[in-house]
Amino acid sequence: MARISIDPSRIMTIERHILEEQTYHPEATGVLTNLLYDLALAGKVIASKTTRAGLAEILGRTEDINIQGEQVMKLDRFADLTIFRLNDHTGRVAAMASEENENFLAVPDKYPKGKYILVFDPLDGSSNVDYNVPIGTIFGVYKRISEDGPGTLEDFLQPGHSLVASGYIAYGSSTMFVYTAGHGVHGFTLDSTVGEFLLSHPNIRIPTPPKYFSVNLGYQIYWSKGVRRYTEYLQGHEGGIKGLSLRYIGTFVSDFHRNLLAGGVFYYPADRRDPKKPHGKLRLLYECAPLSFIAEQAGGYASDGRQRILDIQPKSLHQRTPIFVGNRDLVEKVEEFIRENDS
Ligand code: AHG
Ligand code: MN
Ligand code: MN
Repeated sequence: MARISIDPSRIMTIERHILEEQTYHPEATGVLTNLLYDLALAGKVIASKTTRAGLAEILGRTEDINIQGEQVMKLDRFADLTIFRLNDHTGRVAAMASEENENFLAVPDKYPKGKYILVFDPLDGSSNVDYNVPIGTIFGVYKRISEDGPGTLEDFLQPGHSLVASGYIAYGSSTMFVYTAGHGVHGFTLDSTVGEFLLSHPNIRIPTPPKYFSVNLGYQIYWSKGVRRYTEYLQGHEGGIKGLSLRYIGTFVSDFHRNLLAGGVFYYPADRRDPKKPHGKLRLLYECAPLSFIAEQAGGYASDGRQRILDIQPKSLHQRTPIFVGNRDLVEKVEEFIRENDS
C-alpha cells in the first residue's frame, strides 16, 4: 500500500496547537499551556492501560466505595492517581478535586502552588470498563480565587462560565483529546506509533440537522411530565421531530462526543428513583460544567432544564444537576416543555 506522504509542516501536535492558542492570551505565561500538555500526557498514560485492561490485571473492582456511594473500579483508581501525580509537583495548580475523593486534593507542602485549579472525573463510564465499552476522562481548569498558598474550597466553587479551559479524553476505537481554552473546540487523535496527539478535528461546530438523542429510557417512568413530553417530541409523536436515532452508550464522554460531531442532544434528567439524588446522577463540577463549556464553544447549549449550566453557582464539590446538552434549539425546546408542564 502506498505510504501516505505526510507534509511535516502540516503536522500539528497538541503542544504546537496549545502554544498557538497561547497567543490569544497576551498575559499568558505558558503555565496553562504546560498544564494542558500534562493532561494530554495523562491521557496517553491512561490510554495505555485502557487498551490492555483485560491483560493488565486492571479490570474489576477495588474494595473501596467512593463519596458517590459507588464501587471504585481499579481503572478509576489508576486514572485518579495518574492525573494527581502528573500535576501535584509542577507548580501549575494550587489544588485539585476529583470524583473519587470526598475532599479536594491539596498539593503536598513540599511542592510549589500554582495559579490554576484542576477538577476532573478521572474515569467516566466506569460501569462499562469490564465490557470493553468506550470510557473517558473529563477535566476543567479555573484560575484560583485565593491569593496564594494552598488552594481553598472556595477556589472550586466557581460557576462554569469562569472556566479557563476544559476538555475530555475519549478512549474508544481511537484515543482522542478534545479541549477548548475559550477560542473554539479542537480535537486531536493519538498516533500511538509516534506517541503524539495530532490535530484531526480543528474548530469543531455542532452540525445541524441533529442525528441523535441520547437518554436512558429505562428511567422514563421516573421523569417529570415535561421531560416525558419532550422525549415523545424527540421520538416524532404529534408535531415532534422525525428521524432522530436513539444512541446511548452509558459513558457521558462517548455520548457527548458522538453528538458533538454528528449533532444531537444528550440528557440525564432529574428522576424520582432515588430520593437521595433528586437532581439526577451527573456531577456539576467535573462532568457537566466542563462539557457544557465545550458545547457552547462549539455553538451548542447546556441547561439543567430551567437555567444555563454554566451559570449555576456550585455549593459543594460533588453536587449533582440534571443536564440537557447539545444543539441549542433542541435544548431550548426542553426548557419550553418544562416551563409548560412542570410546576
Ligand atoms: P462515572 O463512571 O464517572 O461515574 O460516570 C458515569 C455516568 C456517565 O458517564 C453516564 O452518562 C452515566 O453515568 C450513565 O448512567 P446510567 O447507567 O444510570 O444511565
Ligand atoms: Mn463520570
Ligand atoms: Mn468517574
